[in-house]
Order: sequence, then structure tokens, then C-alpha cells
Amino acid sequence: MNTYALLNAGRIIAGPGSIESINDVVADLGASKVLIITDKGVAGAGLIAKPQSLLEAAGVDVAVIDTTPPEPDVNQVNAILDAARPHAPQLVVGIGGGSAMDVAKIVAVLLKHDVALRDLLSGKAKIVARGLPTLMVPTTSGTGSETTPNSIILVPEDELKVGIVSPKLMPDGVILDPELTVGLPPAITASTGMDALCHAIECYTSKKGNPFSEMLALKAISLIAHSIRTAFNDGKNLEARHDMLLGAMYGGMCIATSSTTAVHALAYPLGGKYRIAHGISNAILLPFVMRFNIVGNEAKFRDIAQAMGLDVAAKTPQEASVAMIEALFALNRDLQIPADLKRWNITDADLDTLVEGAAKVTRLLDNNPRPMGKADIRAIYTQLI
Ligand SMILES: [Fe+2]
Repeated sequence: MNTYALLNAGRIIAGPGSIESINDVVADLGASKVLIITDKGVAGAGLIAKPQSLLEAAGVDVAVIDTTPPEPDVNQVNAILDAARPHAPQLVVGIGGGSAMDVAKIVAVLLKHDVALRDLLSGKAKIVARGLPTLMVPTTSGTGSETTPNSIILVPEDELKVGIVSPKLMPDGVILDPELTVGLPPAITASTGMDALCHAIECYTSKKGNPFSEMLALKAISLIAHSIRTAFNDGKNLEARHDMLLGAMYGGMCIATSSTTAVHALAYPLGGKYRIAHGISNAILLPFVMRFNIVGNEAKFRDIAQAMGLDVAAKTPQEASVAMIEALFALNRDLQIPADLKRWNITDADLDTLVEGAAKVTRLLDNNPRPMGKADIRAIYTQLI
């Protein structure tokens, strides 16, 4: 067995109302000037008002930048960096979904160190030291960015999302307050929740899987499979929202110790070129890629089926694997996630671009439990168009 490591975020506080602890975390990190990075949707939903007023009541100077776009590109992140500099913050708080948190994590580095974002994205430069301290407050339950060392940025001219991965991006604090997620609309609850489920299932079956990711992934799968339909149908159900936040964070922790695989690799060009939302493209691909992956990995799929709550006690590993794939298709149907890519008007003419785009993501494809070549990738996309 290879050695393995779990990189973890600093202090993690969870539970309904845990946002009230924000001053403890900020004081621990020694900051009296704080920059909150968020997006207009989160700010418009009133989710910044409480942390901002709690901080200001404690005498902390707070600036807010709410211009994080969905799927941020390198130019947009540089614009946020320029807007952040005059505030000279001592700590960066990311409040929102994956985009806001990823931007907060990278801006915290760029504010402290003189390095160009484009050079980090091209691999010309590396992050040499930690940036300003960071605190992550997720308002969706999907990305798990609060506990990953990743920041995903779009490079528009290449039509590709690039992941900057460095242990130095690991957040210093995390607050998981389910009360901040009760207003998340059903469609976003579904897509972000399925992204989290992908993280757990991919990391469990990844070649980089290890005892840490195995424990975290099975717990994440169980929490999400148990609660995603409830959170979708009844957004105000705090217990379901709490399960989803925990499941998403465990999924992020899985990424920090294992790796996602072919689902995320095949989703990359769908996001980069066709701008299909990350969670949607992953959710659509998940059952198709996992059906391909069953061969040789039946025992692991049986574990996943059990974690999903399927009654597979009397089934062979092969039968349990098939039941698990059927359950993933049913989950997508129940969550009103499209069954294929038809609505995006992707045709045979797009196949070469898609296959080439996915095949480039060797960082993830190399960890797929079953080798996946270009012909296999093409066969999977072909089933979806
Ligand atoms: Fe993801």
C-alpha cells in the first residue's frame, strides 16, 4: 500500500446557528480588518447581513465584494483582486458556493504574494507560501471547497477550467451553518448535492482511495443519499440541510486525500466550452461513467449501494453494482436533472472537441479505477447526445 495523507482545514464549527461563532474564529486568526467575498445572489438573499453585523458589532472593519460571477474566469478574478487591494484586509472570508470560496482562497494568496494568476494557471509559477488567513462559509452543499486545497478558474481563451491545487490554499476556518442554506432553490440543491455525491463516489472508487477517503466517502454517500430528496422537496428542513452540508464537506475532505476521476474529467469540457453548470454535467455523467467503471470494482460498488441504503444483502457484488447504477438514474429523475445533453444542442460534430478536452484531464483520468481511453470517452458522450 502507498502512503497517504489527509490535509485538513483548520477549525471547523458546524450546526444550526454556528455563524454566531464567526467572531471567535476571526479573533483566533488575529484579524481586525476582514474582506468578505461573495456573489450578488448570496448578498441579495440577505446572507451577508448577519455575519457582517456580528463582525462590526465586535469592532471588526468589514469590506464586502459581491461581484463573484458563476464559473469565474481569470480576468474576473483579477478584477476582484484589484477591488480588494485598497481594503488591505488581514483575513478573507468566502461566503457562498464553490465560485465565491474558490475566488476567496486564491485572492487571499494573491493579496499577500506578488505572483500573477495567469502564471499560476499556466503552471509557470507555483504558490510558494500561504496567503492571508481564510474562513469559508458555504451557502450551498456541493463543492466542498471549504475543505479542499483547490481553486478552479476558467481560462476563457482556452475554453477550459483549470484547477490550481496547493496545500497552501487550505482554509484556516470553516463554519457550516445549515440555516444559511434553507433558501437554496430546489434546482440548485439538486445540482450542488449531486456534485457532492460525485465527489464521494469518485473518491471512494479512485485509484488514490485510502482509509481516510473510504471512511469519509461512505459517510458522505449515506448522508446525501438519505437527505437529498428531502432537502430538494422541503428546503426548510434543517436536519436534511445539515446532513447535506456535512456530506458535502466530507466529499471535499475526500478530494483533499483522494481524487475525483472520470466523471469530473468528462464534465470539464462541458463546463469550459458549453458552460453547463458543474453540478449538472457531473450528475448527468455519473451513472454512465460508473456503469463503465463497474468491471473489476464490483465489491466497491456494493459498498456504495449499501451506503445509499439499498437492500443488497442477498445480492452478488455484480447485482448490487447494477442496482446502484439504477438508483443513480432514479435519483437524477427524482431531482429533475436532465437524462442527457440534448437540450444543449450538442451534436456528433462536437464529439471530437469534447473527447480531446476530456482526454487532456489526465490529472483525474489517471485515477479512474478502470482505464478509460479516447474510444471509451467517445462512447460515453455518444450515449448522451
Ligand atoms: Fe465537483
